[in-house]
Amino acid sequence: MLIAILPGDGIGREIVPEAVKVLRALERHGFKATLEEAPIGGAGLDAADDPLPAPTLALARKAEAILLGAVGDPKYARHPHNKLPGVGLRRLRKELDLFANFRPARLFPELRDASTLKPEVVDGLDLLLLRELTGDIYYGTPRGRVEGAAERTAVNTMRYSESEIARIGHVAFKVARGRGRRVCSVDKANVLETMALWREVMTEVGRQYPDVELTHMYVDAAAMTLVRAPKSFDVIVTPNLFGDILSDQAAMLTGSIGMLPSASLGATSQGLYEPVHGSAPDIAGKGVANPLATILSAAMLLRHSCDRADLAERVESAVRSVLAAGYRTADIAEKGKPVIGTREMGDRVVAAL
Ligand code: IPM
Ligand code: MG
Repeated sequence: MLIAILPGDGIGREIVPEAVKVLRALERHGFKATLEEAPIGGAGLDAADDPLPAPTLALARKAEAILLGAVGDPKYARHPHNKLPGVGLRRLRKELDLFANFRPARLFPELRDASTLKPEVVDGLDLLLLRELTGDIYYGTPRGRVEGAAERTAVNTMRYSESEIARIGHVAFKVARGRGRRVCSVDKANVLETMALWREVMTEVGRQYPDVELTHMYVDAAAMTLVRAPKSFDVIVTPNLFGDILSDQAAMLTGSIGMLPSASLGATSQGLYEPVHGSAPDIAGKGVANPLATILSAAMLLRHSCDRADLAERVESAVRSVLAAGYRTADIAEKGKPVIGTREMGDRVVAAL
């Protein structure tokens, strides 16, 4: 099988090699794959003046799975809007129709003290944030600067069709059947017509899954509940924009955003796997970034795109044993405790496989 490796920008270039090391080490457990690297984001702009160069998209199309680091480079912050690094990632998700973004937030017991929340609030946390990924204000038109307005004015459009909502709804209910059988749909139906439609369609889809409990929550209340009682959630299904925001918040419950993996799936087994965090320009190049979110994303890749749940579990338990042995990167270390760098963390996981 072919895996596209897209390190992207910033710490992406440091953490992806660690996940690649892990994949390569699985060869001795019978894993075979061809890994091919290509630039995206700022790296794409550097290489071809395009945040998603055509050869990168072609490689992604033919690959069974894509492992991505992060996109975003302050060097390009003043670029015209359609040439920002993040556009490369937004286009890639859309081109491959990867509409279902799984962002599981699970607390490793070893990290209960790394969370900024009290241990009893997060102990045993295991929720799945399911983010719709190819619709909403990220893609809606019209968008952009408004020509001829009296002062600088810009517009974006929150837009959803019934079929886009229904398909992510079906994914949510199906996945809930394999977990706690509870779906909380997040919206802002009290203010936005788009979100009233979201709630209407979710309710209709929910009727086809009488064995799964469906509740609705406004996004502001969901943000509050995520820090007040995060364990009250099982599956959270959200529109694209709210999911972007809530998933960073959910990540912090687990101690560090450096721990949270993600999988973006469509109608086939092809998937895009990436850490939830960004390119972290402030620490890029220093060798201190936490590679575990990317390594755990590689585990999701093994499970969903390679049908190798056995290897996924091997990677996840290697991560657990490294944490249990006390190894920590700076983001998850307790004050005054020893800290290891990106490479050493990767090496420790490989050794524990
Ligand atoms: C994410 C990121 C992206 C998003 C950016 C880099 C385009 O924040 O995957 O959460 O907003 O979707
Ligand atoms: Mg985000």
